[in-house]
Amino acid sequence: MKKILVTGGLGFIGSHTVVELQNEGFEVVIIDNLSNTSIDVLDKITEITGTKPAFHKVDVRVKSDIKSVFDTHKIDGIIHFAAFKAVGESMNKPLDYYENNLSSLIYLLQEMRDRKLDNFIFSSSCTVYGQANALPITEDAPVKAAESVYGNTKQIGEEIIRDTSNTYKINSIALRYFNPMGAHPSIKIGELPIGVPQNLIPFVTQTAAGIRKELSVFGDDYPTKDGTAVRDYIHVVDLAKAHIAALRRLINKKNKKSFEYFNIGTGKGSSVLEIINAFEKVNNLKLNYKIVGRREGDITAAFADTTIANKELNWKTEIGLEEALESAWKWQQKQSV
Ligand code: WQD
Repeated sequence: MKKILVTGGLGFIGSHTVVELQNEGFEVVIIDNLSNTSIDVLDKITEITGTKPAFHKVDVRVKSDIKSVFDTHKIDGIIHFAAFKAVGESMNKPLDYYENNLSSLIYLLQEMRDRKLDNFIFSSSCTVYGQANALPITEDAPVKAAESVYGNTKQIGEEIIRDTSNTYKINSIALRYFNPMGAHPSIKIGELPIGVPQNLIPFVTQTAAGIRKELSVFGDDYPTKDGTAVRDYIHVVDLAKAHIAALRRLINKKNKKSFEYFNIGTGKGSSVLEIINAFEKVNNLKLNYKIVGRREGDITAAFADTTIANKELNWKTEIGLEEALESAWKWQQKQSV
């Protein structure tokens, strides 16, 4: 049984990926410093799959702690989620973001180099494209100067991996996520934003739950169908399954280059108002919102061209927008209990 190290494995996307890894027969080792999640998620994963993953409370900024994990476990592959990811916060704490997101990556790759390990999957983001020149966005769209420190850590991270993978024969794949959302069908795991949610979907669900008074829609003067910004909202389970597909590509040595990257989205764009309308319809409720000015740094529109990912990873999304929004609401209702 192949053993996979999942950093940040108790986080939103990490936990859903651990479930899919176990469903596929992989043995999982999670490291997480619990800075943006709860240890309860470990029990929830165990409830869903019936198998408790190995867990080590590790801060990926501590090189010696990372080393001890590799001394303990023979690792056949790594999926690296652990990173700070709040776009706005990254602008106020650049050094925290560069230290956390990049030193952790370097320490992991150094262990892989020293122990001649292989198969590295990196959590990247469509934010590397900025406002793409053409839509839908393909993998050969140019990477643009990052508009946030967070986005820059993803761009630099990809460059570190590109330069490392060829030299040390560490076959790697970066998955460029579009907008992850929703919750596992068991409603035992989902998004756990700490404090005021920065992302749209948790703010929508918290407004519907009465935790937030009303949703502010950041701008309705974009050159889009209804003036609000367009994004590609992908259910977190579909996203998790893309990691399994990428891992299998590497383990089965189907990769064509030592470093590859794929756009992971649904291929469909939804505006903020379309999200609100779909959320209200599928959950049979009215959402309290108002239109305000644009948020600094936001782009007009982004949605994925999924042709390459569908073909090369033999993967495609299976969960539609309404089902995804329904799962997000069911998850929120469980939190409010
Ligand atoms: C989506 C749309 C907002 C909140 C970022 C990162 C990306 C990834 C996901 C980490 C935008 C609008 C939002 C609100 C709103 N990060 N909005 N009111 O900015 O597309 O992507 O988060 O994994 O890398 O770049 O996501 O959910 O913040 O915003 O109107 O209260 O919703 O303007 O158009 P974004 P988001």
